[in-house]
Amino acid sequence: MSSRIAVIGAGIMGADHARIIAEDLPGATLQVVCDASAERARAVAEAHGAHDVATDPDAAIRRRDVDAVLIASPDQTHAALTLACIETGKPVLCEKPLSPDSRECLAVIDAETARGRQLVQVGFMRRFDPSYREMRAALTGNTLGAALMMHNFHRNVDAPAGFTGAMAITNSAPHEFDIARFVLGTDYRTVTAFQPAVTATSERVAPVFMVLETTGGQPVSIEINNTATYGYDVRGELVCATGTVSFNAPVHTRVNAELQSVERYPADWRPRFAEAYRLQNRAFVKFVETGILADAAASAWDGLAATLAAEAGVRALTGGSRVAVTMPERPPLYRR
Ligand SMILES: NC(=O)c1ccc[n+]([C@@H]2O[C@H](COP(=O)([O-])OP(=O)(O)OC[C@H]3O[C@@H](n4cnc5c(N)ncnc54)[C@H](O)[C@@H]3O)[C@@H](O)[C@H]2O)c1
Repeated sequence: MSSRIAVIGAGIMGADHARIIAEDLPGATLQVVCDASAERARAVAEAHGAHDVATDPDAAIRRRDVDAVLIASPDQTHAALTLACIETGKPVLCEKPLSPDSRECLAVIDAETARGRQLVQVGFMRRFDPSYREMRAALTGNTLGAALMMHNFHRNVDAPAGFTGAMAITNSAPHEFDIARFVLGTDYRTVTAFQPAVTATSERVAPVFMVLETTGGQPVSIEINNTATYGYDVRGELVCATGTVSFNAPVHTRVNAELQSVERYPADWRPRFAEAYRLQNRAFVKFVETGILADAAASAWDGLAATLAAEAGVRALTGGSRVAVTMPERPPLYRR
């Protein structure tokens, strides 16, 4: 039996998820594409052969011909839609962040705990990226000794007008907050955040540079540069006692001409993390079929952890000081 999935939000990410479900997910059917814009929903549904279109997300979640939901609408809509999925007992893959507000993340955790079973997977797809998986395997295999620290770089070509340093922390950095926590197998104790005083132009948001300290005392550096201009570029290096692991972007070709050797950058995240999205969504279909969240997948608890780090990061940026990141006690549902 195929799992019938409703995609809510048919923008950049929703269209990509609809394509993956339609073309690349054995065991899944693209049942409904729902967007606040009927035109947008129809365009994506037609492009990928969805069975139906909708504009009301709550009604789409409650449909009897929908078994599971993928939320790709804007950040502020995530928690309410995820709660509606939990209420109807339907598994949901919610794009990151679970919510920009930790109180909403806690409401999702409370609802899931009350249901007594996990229904929520959060779209931190880097956990499925082969580069980060190999990095993590070096630690679990103990080939390089203890992890001392981790460096992270996250660069985009450009950001929308009005994008701020705080938005870089709440919208872009959650990927790094989550993946460093996942690779190191730890939580955070503190965060400090900086922005350079000099930027290229006054219209461009300045990069944000953060240093977090894990509960195990490992420094984690994160550069978020949303207006790097040259390409979409994510880098990382794990520094261990007897070596380091850094990763290469999946680049398939190099052009050699005119005394130069050139590799191209993608314009955005989709090509860089194509395999990660595909593997993440496959894990979600398994979750729908079995009710068991994949070991690598991010839970609502992981969503809360990233949001708490982001909230502390924004306070650190505005207040200019080192801010504590405080996790509540982990409920038994999320202990693995
Ligand atoms: N995992 C990743 O790598 C990644 C990358 C980019 C964005 N994201 C996340 O994915 C989400 C979507 O981002 P995007 O770039 O596709 O945004 P987008 O603006 O391109 O698309 C959002 C779509 O949602 C629709 N929408 C708005 N409110 C809605 C509602 N209440 N119900 C149904 N549809 C609604 C809009 O009409 C729009 O078509 C965001 O939460 C973002 O943070 C994740």
